[in-house]
Amino acid sequence: MATLLGIDQCKLVELPVIHNPQGNLTFIEAERHIPFQIARVYYLYDVPEGAVRGGHAHRELEQLILPIGGSFDIVLDDGSERKRVVLDQPRVGLYLPRLIWRELENFSAGAFCLVLASAPYDESDYYRDYAEFRAAVGA
Ligand code: TYD
Repeated sequence: MATLLGIDQCKLVELPVIHNPQGNLTFIEAERHIPFQIARVYYLYDVPEGAVRGGHAHRELEQLILPIGGSFDIVLDDGSERKRVVLDQPRVGLYLPRLIWRELENFSAGAFCLVLASAPYDESDYYRDYAEFRAAVGA
């Protein structure tokens, strides 16, 4: 498929940190640290041991996924290539463009996964069937 939309477009984003003996502060500005306006924020927590989240791709949605507490893995798949990314630092997120199948797994106990998204929730934007996703990306 076109490299414009493949796994190579999934980027680790290193965010600024304001260090302070009283604690660190990290911030994210739309269209400065991430290439989209933020229309929605959601988060995952209380994820039980062994759980797998995701298992879908989006037609148009772009996201930044951040491990603001603990750690987890994201398995990325663009229909032809698969790659595992470990997220374990609150200042390093993963930018996902459209048309990337993802699975989130290996959550540490008490992990928090914060997601910034480019659009409001819309079930019609999801591919939840892997075969349909692969057909859509021409894999
Ligand atoms: P889903 O995106 O499948 O979760 P995950 O990828 O983390 O496993 O969403 C799970 C359910 O929550 C599904 O019924 C849709 C609903 N949901 C919303 O209503 N609003 C949202 O912003 C999100 C992300 C999900």
